[in-house]
Amino acid sequence: MATTNQSAAPYTVPGLSTENGHEVAQTLQQRLHALNDLQLTLKHAHWNVVGPNFISVHEMLDPQIELVRGFVDELAERMATMGVGPSGLPGDLVQARTWDDYSVHRATAVEHLAALDLVYNGIIEDHRDAIQKVGELDPITEDMLIGQVKELELFQWFMRAHLENSGGVLQHGGARTEQDAAESAAQ
Ligand SMILES: [Fe+2]
Repeated sequence: MATTNQSAAPYTVPGLSTENGHEVAQTLQQRLHALNDLQLTLKHAHWNVVGPNFISVHEMLDPQIELVRGFVDELAERMATMGVGPSGLPGDLVQARTWDDYSVHRATAVEHLAALDLVYNGIIEDHRDAIQKVGELDPITEDMLIGQVKELELFQWFMRAHLENSGGVLQHGGARTEQDAAESAAQ
């Protein structure tokens, strides 16, 4: 009797071995968790930002959240297309993630933006690692991830533009934790 696997189908996209296709899809699962986490974190910042630049940052975050939610859907559906069932479950996310919850709560715009700059560093670095990994097997998935990084890097520049002086120096440059970044940016 054939066994069934609830998380993987016996197929993948044409031109790839099932094994390679599923390997690519598995790499996407952690990116799916990371961007699911990011869209929640960005909403948290949207709700908790206070101070003089409240409205600009509050409103700047929403289109980015919509974009990231679109990326989440794109990642999950690429996994399914490649024959692997994506997990969007919060418990799976918490168990699989290698990072801690965002640590800034009620805080000013520059504090949130400096902390989020660090969040973006981590997400973009990991997305670039995934590009390297999947690029050897599947240029279609690689292209999807490249498109996402391009948009994430653009938004990171939007955030950094609030934080730099005319010489391009970021007050929180070199900060290792979100709390340190927030404190440095506030000075
Ligand atoms: Fe809102």
